[in-house]
Amino acid sequence: MIPQDFIQQLLDRTDIVAVVERYVPLKKAGANYQARCPFHNEKSPSFSVSPTKHFYHCFGCGAHGTAITFLMEHAGYSFVEAVKELAGQVGLQVPDDGSRQAPEEETRRDKLYERMEVAGRHYRQALKSAEPAIAYLKKRGVTGETAARFALGYAADDWQPLAAAFADYQDPLLVEAGLVIANEGKRYDRFRDRVMFPIRNERGKVIAFGGRVMGAGEPKYLNSPETPLFHKGRELYGLHEHRRAIQGENRVLVVEGYMDVVMLDQYGVQNAVATLGTAITPDHLTRLLRLVDEIVFAFDGDNAGRKAAWRALENSLPQVRDGKLLSFLFLPEGEDPDSFVQAQGAEAFRKLCDKATPLSDFLFAELGAQTDLSSQEGKVRLATLAKPHLAKLTQAPLLARALHRRLGELSGLDTPGPARAARFSGKPAGRAQPAGRAAVQPSLWRVLLQAVLDNPSRAARLSDLPDSGDIDAQALASVAALLREHPELSRPALLEHFRGKPEQAPLESANSATMNWGAEEDVEADFQGALKSLLAQAGGSTVRELSARKPSELSAQEKARLLASLKNRKPA
Ligand code: UTP
Ligand code: MN
Repeated sequence: MIPQDFIQQLLDRTDIVAVVERYVPLKKAGANYQARCPFHNEKSPSFSVSPTKHFYHCFGCGAHGTAITFLMEHAGYSFVEAVKELAGQVGLQVPDDGSRQAPEEETRRDKLYERMEVAGRHYRQALKSAEPAIAYLKKRGVTGETAARFALGYAADDWQPLAAAFADYQDPLLVEAGLVIANEGKRYDRFRDRVMFPIRNERGKVIAFGGRVMGAGEPKYLNSPETPLFHKGRELYGLHEHRRAIQGENRVLVVEGYMDVVMLDQYGVQNAVATLGTAITPDHLTRLLRLVDEIVFAFDGDNAGRKAAWRALENSLPQVRDGKLLSFLFLPEGEDPDSFVQAQGAEAFRKLCDKATPLSDFLFAELGAQTDLSSQEGKVRLATLAKPHLAKLTQAPLLARALHRRLGELSGLDTPGPARAARFSGKPAGRAQPAGRAAVQPSLWRVLLQAVLDNPSRAARLSDLPDSGDIDAQALASVAALLREHPELSRPALLEHFRGKPEQAPLESANSATMNWGAEEDVEADFQGALKSLLAQAGGSTVRELSARKPSELSAQEKARLLASLKNRKPA
């Protein structure tokens, strides 16, 4: 753990504008700086950075956070890496006390990165003189330029190809990195006689490899195991290489194989990424939907491809948001994007993408195929099958309503749409509300939370608040408790403290809402007003509860509370 006061000191010294500006050109606009949002594609700037609040926020997609968050989400740093990077910039030394484990952990990660880098370099070098591997790639149509762009390599046909790359082959980190296998006292390379595809994280660091056999042999692709650096449900092959193109086109193409990404790229289709032998995960989708409004999933046209597509659909439903377009592209039987683009070219491939089946059509087509719509029973069955899927569209209320309507038409049944969910505190008040819906007034708790973030010293005036199950109320209570112990904490340090905790969401959305406060905002008046109302409400219930009992049954303390409550209730 990095001590909290260090994070505080670090964020105080860090100029968030300068940090963001290294990646995104910013323009001054009033007290803040603005840009087109780097987390989603947009034409007019809704991304804003506040130098005084040490915070960024996008009113379009809701991305927000501190300088640390920015490095993590935009540049692919881990938390500790981001802290180190910022510390280096402002000349602070990250302390290595605390639980003492974290810094060691971090150096170990650095070492693992270094091992992967060395291995990747070795494989790349080895490819240069590996005739059969070169012949294999040539036969598959890969040019030298493409091989270089994707840093392809070769692991020699030998037990310990990497012994030539590392002075100490016994190094346990080689095993931990998934490069070497230790088995009954023997050690040998995981990858032997394979063409090597390095998998890079968004920052371009090698975190894993996929190795393809050149002839027959199992498995066709051997991948790195899960390691501290590599979680295959999180990574996407090609994201580092293609990030710019993906954002530029506002569309990402998700394919199944390494070679699909590589060959599409060679033919000029540079917005593809591949999952690594897994179905698309919610984690993948979150990352992609931050970058683009449109995702096209490409699958083989065979049975296995449709099954995989259905899995992708099921995993996507909970992540879909209104305004995003997800669609499914089925290639002709026996083709994959690699073979298709080589045979037909990029234009033909782009045309296929443009004609991809929208998620809703695919959903109804698949369910419709399982039912006979000419009978009443079949129609009811369609409705029964569809309901649980539509229920997953929790983040896309408009789409959900449209699909319910369509289900009603298809089934001839009257299927009531999803109940209009009351939107309350969980929703950032500053975010644009869907058209036609009145903006929700922030709750009293939210007002207090915002005022305390605006000036943490206000927390000292928050005594005697009633208990409440409201998530803003609970976040406020946690913040107040933390500030009692550490009154010196500033806004960004508070936000960092609750990273990964239940308070994070309400805090960040409250904080985001403060981003567009101008100087005219009378935060103090709102704070006092909300505080008074809450105390009066609480007083009301105290009065009701205590005055329901006989005065003789009340303890001295309870009498005092009753009196105080009655005083509080007097209009000021
Ligand atoms: P495919 O079997 O569809 O192969 O696997 P491919 O991508 O067309 O490969 P080429 O063109 O024959 O070289 C799709 C993806 O599934 C994972 C890999 O990520 C592969 O790119 N996979 C497949 C494995 O991890 N292991 C395997 O044995 C096979
Ligand atoms: Mn293929």
